[in-house]
Amino acid sequence: LPALNYRNDALHMEQVSITELVDCYDTPCYVYSKQAILDVYQAYTDSFASLKHQVCYAVKANSNLAVLGVLAQAGAGFDIVSRGELMRVLAAGGDAARVVFSGVGKTYGDIEYALTQGIGCFNVESISELALINEVAQQLDKSAPISLRVNPNVDAKTHPYISTGLKDNKFGITHEDAVAVYEQAAALSHIDIVGIDCHIGSQLTEVEPFVAALDKVIELIHTLREKGIELRHMDLGGGLGVRYIDETPVSMDEFAAALLPKLSELGLTVFFEPGRSIVANAGVLLTRVDVLKPTEHKNFAIVDAAMNDLIRPALYQAEMAVIPSVLPSKGIDTDGTQPWDIVGAICETGDFLAKGRLLALEVGDTLAITGAGAYGFTMSSNYNSRPRASEVMVSGNHHQLIRPRETIESLYENETLWQAQ
Ligand code: LLP
Repeated sequence: LPALNYRNDALHMEQVSITELVDCYDTPCYVYSKQAILDVYQAYTDSFASLKHQVCYAVKANSNLAVLGVLAQAGAGFDIVSRGELMRVLAAGGDAARVVFSGVGKTYGDIEYALTQGIGCFNVESISELALINEVAQQLDKSAPISLRVNPNVDAKTHPYISTGLKDNKFGITHEDAVAVYEQAAALSHIDIVGIDCHIGSQLTEVEPFVAALDKVIELIHTLREKGIELRHMDLGGGLGVRYIDETPVSMDEFAAALLPKLSELGLTVFFEPGRSIVANAGVLLTRVDVLKPTEHKNFAIVDAAMNDLIRPALYQAEMAVIPSVLPSKGIDTDGTQPWDIVGAICETGDFLAKGRLLALEVGDTLAITGAGAYGFTMSSNYNSRPRASEVMVSGNHHQLIRPRETIESLYENETLWQAQ
């Protein structure tokens, strides 16, 4: 991982040792490398430099204001799915005109807020949403920029919970209906058709599903042209996979090489909505070993992070690497290692972070769970009345707390006791 390295057996993120971070911020703590985020963003813009393009970072992957701010400064646009995410983008200095609004359940209020802020595009997922956007735009005396999110019915070959481009999924407008819905949109008074959109799933490691989806979208673009509907952009969604342990995702170069020839013929601006690929490997979750519990069948290491902090293993059987903050003096693969299940202290059997990992552990050790920058903190909760972890950003030899650990009191400060009437 580019952001992480061992120096004299001590794990560092950029120039900062993990031990120093734990001394300053305690555990559990999410730490993100600013450089690693910018490097992937830059790789996207470099790879597609020959085309007019816009990288709209998918805010849901990691929505900390510092992360959004770094990307906004670099010129990124954003892909949002709620009013809350748009408010975060604006608070972080992002430009509403470079934001696309995805999601199947936009409400009147969401649409009104987004139009008032000057949103770049609504990615429309149904006919009723189209009608609602037209109605709100009419009320505000504005013209609403829209794309239709088409569902190309391709198999993304990823985990079923994060596959979105199959006809059984709730997302998008089916490929077969798309042209008719564009024609309906063209007839609406306060709708401005600007693009076409698709997103087929997440953690795609092969390029073929992207190419298959692109081919289907291109076919639609040609049909629309014949009908006099001209688009300005096409949005290929997000979904590029990352390496967590031993996955071999398509590289950015291969990704670009497979898509560029088809894209350059179209003469449209190309949008991407990457989330995971930008932030996953820029982040780690630091956690301390609290209890070692070897049993006859299994060894459990109970740590101070849990499924409320990082739900991906429990929810998707996701596997992420677990590495020690200080290498054992004899090296990582030597005598002291045993297989450990790394588990949290929550009262659920599903509360595990990793299983059967060969490690030499002692109580008090700090472990780093890698690949935790995407869908880590954003999916965290307060289950078991656990305060959510702190978040820290590292750049060079600097580090900064970008969200303090929640206090326990804050978890119930807005609750009230029942007052008998
Ligand atoms: N655009 C749309 C419309 C999306 O629904 C998503 C993700 C993205 C872009 C970004 O996809 P990415 O580049 O991050 O793959 N919580 C799951 C992942 C859910 C993805 C949902 N949609 C996980 O932790 O694996």
